[in-house]
Amino acid sequence: MLSVDRVEKSYKKAGMFSRERQRVLRSISFACGPGECLGIIGESGSGKSTLGRLLLGIEKPDRGTITFDGRRVDERRARRGKISAVFQDYTASINPFYTVEQALLEPLKLRGLSRRERHSAIDLLLHQVGLDLSYRGKYPHELSGGEVQRVCIARAVATEPKLIVLDEAVSSLDGSVQLQVLELLRSLRQLYGMSYIFITHDIRAAAYICDRVMILRSGQIEEIVAVEQLKDVQSAYARKLLEMVVL
Ligand SMILES: Nc1ncnc2c1ncn2[C@@H]1O[C@H](COP(=O)(O)OP(=O)(O)OP(=O)(O)O)[C@@H](O)[C@H]1O
Ligand SMILES: [Mg+2]
Repeated sequence: MLSVDRVEKSYKKAGMFSRERQRVLRSISFACGPGECLGIIGESGSGKSTLGRLLLGIEKPDRGTITFDGRRVDERRARRGKISAVFQDYTASINPFYTVEQALLEPLKLRGLSRRERHSAIDLLLHQVGLDLSYRGKYPHELSGGEVQRVCIARAVATEPKLIVLDEAVSSLDGSVQLQVLELLRSLRQLYGMSYIFITHDIRAAAYICDRVMILRSGQIEEIVAVEQLKDVQSAYARKLLEMVVL
């Protein structure tokens, strides 16, 4: 289980002589249970990606603690193989000189499998993300955006993590491909039973895949609601977000 307790984060404001700091996250506390999909929504600049980086242990909070299964996520060993990530910019998340097979081999090495086991694990992963075996030898530039994102998802799943942090993972894909990848994420979660932190500015995508949704505004949690109750959400800000889409 992921547990976030009174987390604060600020950054130095731009400008050489500036001593001011911008408070990006204020007193953030929440939990995400095993197998749960928690959405984090909010407008641009509300601190979603910053929170995502803290959950992944890429950056440390100024104050407060983040633990996963009782261990702090900023300890590399605590999160290794247990927490993985899928980002929006999939072209940057994958090495252009690696074939799909090489890209998948990397995380599989963490699992300590034999060479033969790794090969069958690659076949299985490709199958699970809906790519046939001819993709093994392909390079990223030979794939469509949706296909590269499937490879990134396969990579994230390869270590059999307990939690995946997805930051705008479907946002740059167009409509029908977006839906296909959302469906893929749903079915993988059923298969593996892992938790998702699903960061997005798209309330519709969040409603499609999440169990609960956290509304983040100017670095503070405005509300956390179950998806079924999204229509009755209290905060004026969330209402405005909802009015922009017809659920
Ligand atoms: N490394 C950094 N140094 C300084 N300021 C930063 C840094 N990272 C983020 N910020 C600032 O923190 C604020 C929140 O940024 P963040 O990327 O977390 O927002 P976001 O909710 O993910 O937005 P978007 O929807 O556009 O992705 C912004 O004002 C941003 O400029
Ligand atoms: Mg962001």
